[in-house]
Amino acid sequence: MNAIVDLRSDTVTRPTPGMRKAMLEAELGDDVFGDDPTVNRLQARAAEVFGFEDALFFPSGTQSNLAALISHCQRSEAVIIGAEQHSYRYEAGGLGVLGSIHPQVIPNRPDGTLDLAQVEASISPDDPHFARTRLLALENTIGGKPIPRSYLQSAVELARRRGLSIHLDGARIFNAAAHFQTSVKELCAGFDSVSSCLSKGLGAPAGTVLLGGKDFIARARRARKILGGAMRQAGVIAAAGLYALENHVARLASDHQNAARLAEGLRASNLPVEQHTNMVFVTLPAERVAALGEHLRKRDILVLPGARLRLVTHLDVDAAGIERALSAFGEFFSAEAGAPGGIRTHDPWLRRPIL
Ligand SMILES: Cc1ncc(COP(=O)(O)O)c(C=O)c1O
Repeated sequence: MNAIVDLRSDTVTRPTPGMRKAMLEAELGDDVFGDDPTVNRLQARAAEVFGFEDALFFPSGTQSNLAALISHCQRSEAVIIGAEQHSYRYEAGGLGVLGSIHPQVIPNRPDGTLDLAQVEASISPDDPHFARTRLLALENTIGGKPIPRSYLQSAVELARRRGLSIHLDGARIFNAAAHFQTSVKELCAGFDSVSSCLSKGLGAPAGTVLLGGKDFIARARRARKILGGAMRQAGVIAAAGLYALENHVARLASDHQNAARLAEGLRASNLPVEQHTNMVFVTLPAERVAALGEHLRKRDILVLPGARLRLVTHLDVDAAGIERALSAFGEFFSAEAGAPGGIRTHDPWLRRPIL
């Protein structure tokens, strides 16, 4: 398939020939006037797939999440959010900087969920000393970990009972649905809003859809304008999103299988490995990370170097690419094991002797 095996992220995919054709042939209009037929079709289709009243197309997941938070919370109101969640940790503080929203941050547990007792305890009392808690925000998948419907249902019930709105960053919700062999409609039922990226596992070059009720989407449309995300002939990229929704959902299971094979092969090299959906995490000694990155790069395997190396499978990596990556990893670690001063069997990160 590709000469380069790019495991940095599932955002690196290039449009397939079928997707490019759909983009080329897209019927276009000016979406700021609401008359781009392809954008309108994508929004209608997304609303149907997710089981929401309405949908709105955004250039990015960051902007879609921020517009959602702004549409739920007034200036100075608060969102309960996990410390590891993208909207809190990796979106340059946009909710505070641009949204004037106060984050009430609680730790994500190892399975990615928030402890709902802790969520409930952190809801502010009605007292002018505190920012008023308005919203609970969750993420699924988080660090690749899929969060089951039973937990989501309990979170929705808590939000209802305590008068909060509830938002889901579902950038990779289709991966969660593939994992549980269910639909995104089932996983997202009861949420007031869901943001779902088309440009990650689904393989579009850009674009995210935000789902919600009619009134919420009307507010989000205004927020999108403020944030500079209203685009004109956006049908060119919406066509890729529509194509992705129709053609790239069922294949996500093969990304998960490739990730499982990658994890299995790395474990055979005695590496501590975790795998969740399309993500594999490998713990490495920090001082070996740069050398490994370089070794892989020379063999056209791309990774984002880190002591907790994250490897992501996607549409542009096939089973042969996974085997190539595994032999490059295997080569590095067997050379290291044999080298003077290299990695020895008593190194703490090795879980069993090298054979
Ligand atoms: C969970 C999650 N939410 C939101 C985003 C933001 O998406 P974008 O890169 O399109 O802004 C990402 C991007 O990696 C993400 O992983």
